[in-house]
Amino acid sequence: MTVPARRALLAFLAACVLLLGCARPPEAPPAAGPPDDPGVDELMGGRGRQTVAERIGRAGGTWDQYVAWGRELFTTGSVARPPVGPRPSPPVSRWYTCDRCHNVAREDPVLTVQDPEARLRYIAGRPGMALLQGTTFWGAVNRETFYNGYYAQYHDLCVPETTTDQPVANGGPDDAGRCRPGTRRMVATSFEDAIQVCSGYCSLGRYLVRWELDALLAYFWTLEVRLSDLGLAPHDEALVRRTLRPLSRSRRHVEEARALLAGRYLRRAGDTFRGVPAVRRRPDGTWEVGAYADGRRFTGDPARGQVIYERSCLHCHDTAVSPVAGGDLAGDVGQFFQILAKGTTQSDTWYMPEFTLERLSRQQSADVLAYLRRLRQQNR
Ligand code: HEC
Ligand code: HEC
Repeated sequence: MTVPARRALLAFLAACVLLLGCARPPEAPPAAGPPDDPGVDELMGGRGRQTVAERIGRAGGTWDQYVAWGRELFTTGSVARPPVGPRPSPPVSRWYTCDRCHNVAREDPVLTVQDPEARLRYIAGRPGMALLQGTTFWGAVNRETFYNGYYAQYHDLCVPETTTDQPVANGGPDDAGRCRPGTRRMVATSFEDAIQVCSGYCSLGRYLVRWELDALLAYFWTLEVRLSDLGLAPHDEALVRRTLRPLSRSRRHVEEARALLAGRYLRRAGDTFRGVPAVRRRPDGTWEVGAYADGRRFTGDPARGQVIYERSCLHCHDTAVSPVAGGDLAGDVGQFFQILAKGTTQSDTWYMPEFTLERLSRQQSADVLAYLRRLRQQNR
């Protein structure tokens, strides 16, 4: 290549770099939290946050703006000043917002143990948190498979084939289990798909369009698990930092450090069907609660039940969601246990999702019942 040609090429390349740089300013690194407290996904070698940040950058948005929209969507179901479409954006659901069934803060003292008894104690001093059917969004980006156990039936539900800013109508499935054109079955390991399913189905709403999904994702990335949340022993934490920041060249050391992390946070939420105890109505109209299928019986404590009622049931009952409250919830004890275990049949208005054993213990359900029965007696 001649010198002028080389110069021209260099100038051309420089212009390209400049032009590209101007057309698409490098996305400011998303607020990844305190620099000394890295996110666990990054330490594990994930690029989850980066992938969302890059897509937001390509759409011409800023991370912080999307986080704010995500929070707004989560709590109100709509965004007052959305990036595209009508203002305000059309509500995700006529009925439900996500915060009705999910917390957004840490709810379990030991991250790998989903024990509703420990959870109730843990959230006791934390205002705004409730004992709910859905798993918290704190740490949701760190989970690897969604709708497990009893909820695996949701894997048959449909999501948009690809999510764009064009709305896609709910895809069924139809009676033969097929998803309608433009939709496909959800993928159990896809966090995006899991969100679409709960928007379209659990919330009795619609699928999200691209900017909404990215807004929620950006918001959920602010709720990721960080190194300091794992409660590692000081020498383990030092080893993790030394090995993973910056990344050691020894594959073995990296694997060992990641193994230390892997067992310390929730990678899949459990969803165990709670079952119902044998319930019999005596001739005098009173109820007898017997054993569960595994032979276990529980005697309720009304004082404990009151706490659970206030921290859980009242999140929906005695509100616009359901006016039925107090002793009226225990009018039919057989139905009471059926509804806790299986929810109410999903209708086209507010319904109640079931509590799995990870969300409400059998003892807790006995306690609530004892409290509600006491209220009934007092009201006589
Ligand atoms: C009426 C209650 C309800 C509403 C409203 C609701 N969800 Fe859920 N959601 C659930 C239940 C129940 C589950 C299954 C139990 C669980 O979370 O492990 C679930 C599960 C999920 C999961 C999978 C969690 C996992 O680890 O398996 C995601 C993601 C999710 N919901 C997102 C959302 C989003 C986003 C919204 C708002 C658009 C929303 N949900 C609204 C009840 C609800
Ligand atoms: C996420 C919201 C939500 C939460 C939390 C919730 N429920 Fe419900 N529940 C509902 C809705 C909505 C209905 C009415 C459903 C319908 O009519 O189809 C309902 C109905 C019921 C019913 C049937 C009432 C009747 O006679 O119609 C019982 C019993 C019940 N809930 C018990 C409870 C108990 C006990 C708790 C707390 C441990 C609780 N629920 C927590 C939403 C909720």
